[in-house]
Amino acid sequence: MSETWWRGAAIYQVYLRSFADGNGDGIGDLAGLRSRLPYLSDLGIGAIWLNPWYPSPMADGGYDVADYRDIEPSFGTLAEAEQFIEEAHALGIRVIIDVVPNHSSDQSAWFQEALAAGPGSAARERFWFKDEPNDWKSIFGGPAWTQVPDGQWYLHLFAPEQPDFNWTNPEVHQEFHDVLRFWFDRGVDGIRIDSAAVLVKDFDGGDPEGYTDLAEVHDVYRSWRRLSDEYDERLLIGEVWFPDQERFARYLRPDELHTAFNFDFLGSPWDPAALRASIEQTIATHVPLGAPATWVLSNHDVVRPVTRYGRANTSWDNGNRRDGVPSDLELGYRRARAAALLAMALPGSVYVYQGEELGLPEVEDIPDELREDPMWHRSGHAVVGRDGCRVPLPWSGDETPFGFGTGNPWLPQPEAWKKVTVEAQQADLGSMLNLYRTALHLRREWLEGGGITWLDLGPEVLAFTRESGLTCVVNLAADPVRLPPHESVLLASGSIEGDELPSDTAVWLRTT
Ligand code: NOJ
Ligand code: CA
Repeated sequence: MSETWWRGAAIYQVYLRSFADGNGDGIGDLAGLRSRLPYLSDLGIGAIWLNPWYPSPMADGGYDVADYRDIEPSFGTLAEAEQFIEEAHALGIRVIIDVVPNHSSDQSAWFQEALAAGPGSAARERFWFKDEPNDWKSIFGGPAWTQVPDGQWYLHLFAPEQPDFNWTNPEVHQEFHDVLRFWFDRGVDGIRIDSAAVLVKDFDGGDPEGYTDLAEVHDVYRSWRRLSDEYDERLLIGEVWFPDQERFARYLRPDELHTAFNFDFLGSPWDPAALRASIEQTIATHVPLGAPATWVLSNHDVVRPVTRYGRANTSWDNGNRRDGVPSDLELGYRRARAAALLAMALPGSVYVYQGEELGLPEVEDIPDELREDPMWHRSGHAVVGRDGCRVPLPWSGDETPFGFGTGNPWLPQPEAWKKVTVEAQQADLGSMLNLYRTALHLRREWLEGGGITWLDLGPEVLAFTRESGLTCVVNLAADPVRLPPHESVLLASGSIEGDELPSDTAVWLRTT
């Protein structure tokens, strides 16, 4: 298999609404992102993945797409998106966009046409309209069906504003082929596929999850792979949440997706045996397929690592977010620093979600009336939801909006963030930002190819060497551990005294 750009890439996830606001309306946008490209270039990343940037009523933060071939007006214009792609490329940064094939917005032309055309029409056949709903539940809570005035019901695995496409309809296949071409022709380097495993439905099997990982979904990705192979080095990455590695691996067969997110690693508790098992399993799954592993600690759907790793239970579970469970943020911060060095030392690509490099905690005190996540609304306020990891970034200064823009940010930023702005962290050699920056640069030199060899430093220490001669040691024991012989310390997540690596600390050593 050829060495392609994504095999060892560091990919930075931009949640556009919260990255940087260029026009003062409190919502992040392309102008803001473009103005901060030098920051990303300096950070040392190889690619940007943007969450959906299409016109959207924002019923689910843009995952309700009204038009797959344009840009949300509050984010900018199509011409600006093209300019952004060019500017990113000029800095050597690739661009990955989000494609949402399971559902559109209820405001999309197709869905509006379906509503107007009525029962039995060809327009309704692009979605799932039925005279009788089944008992499926929405992933955001409540029923998965909503009734329209003429009596029919339509399926939405997520919010009612997100009607599911009917993937037995060839028109739907054709539409997404066109959409992929539309963006590949504009220079987009990769596609992140939203909810990749749930496109195909089986209503007759009686399974309450008769939409998860059905065989026919693989035909979709085989055809997408054929299409992407017509272009030069375009990446397909799947959002596939499966504990079952055998099923996960099917998405990475040589004629399907190039990579998929490693949610097993993200969900692993801060525990040496669990992390080691996850790493070994990941490598064992990917190596035979020749597919690069991905290492993910965070994204726009999960509680921020600093908060997660400071809780008594450090694992992540989508079904049990543990929102509001107390967290020792100092401990979580130390562990998040160590976790970052671990993730960045492993072979494959690594994802960094905006703000992770600043060590931001989850914001847990957003006033209820400002919460936007449909999980919050659909669960009858039983689930706090994901707004707390989507708060606009603090860039500079002592007062909100901390250089995010000039207007009032769409979610309020904690006052305490004046200490963690990009500006403050740039000036502090020991900051999380400088840890990420140094690690991302070292990673390019030391960590792009080859596998790992484990070293035995005891059951509570993760230690491995890469072929370049870099050794990563992570101490998950309560007591310090002695470092193995080495030439020099390249980088450490905390202070090292003599040859002793403290608890919850990671180090990169030069060993050849
Ligand atoms: C996964 C996305 O990451 C999430 O933010 C979204 O709500 C669902 N898919 C539905 O599109
Ligand atoms: Ca704006």
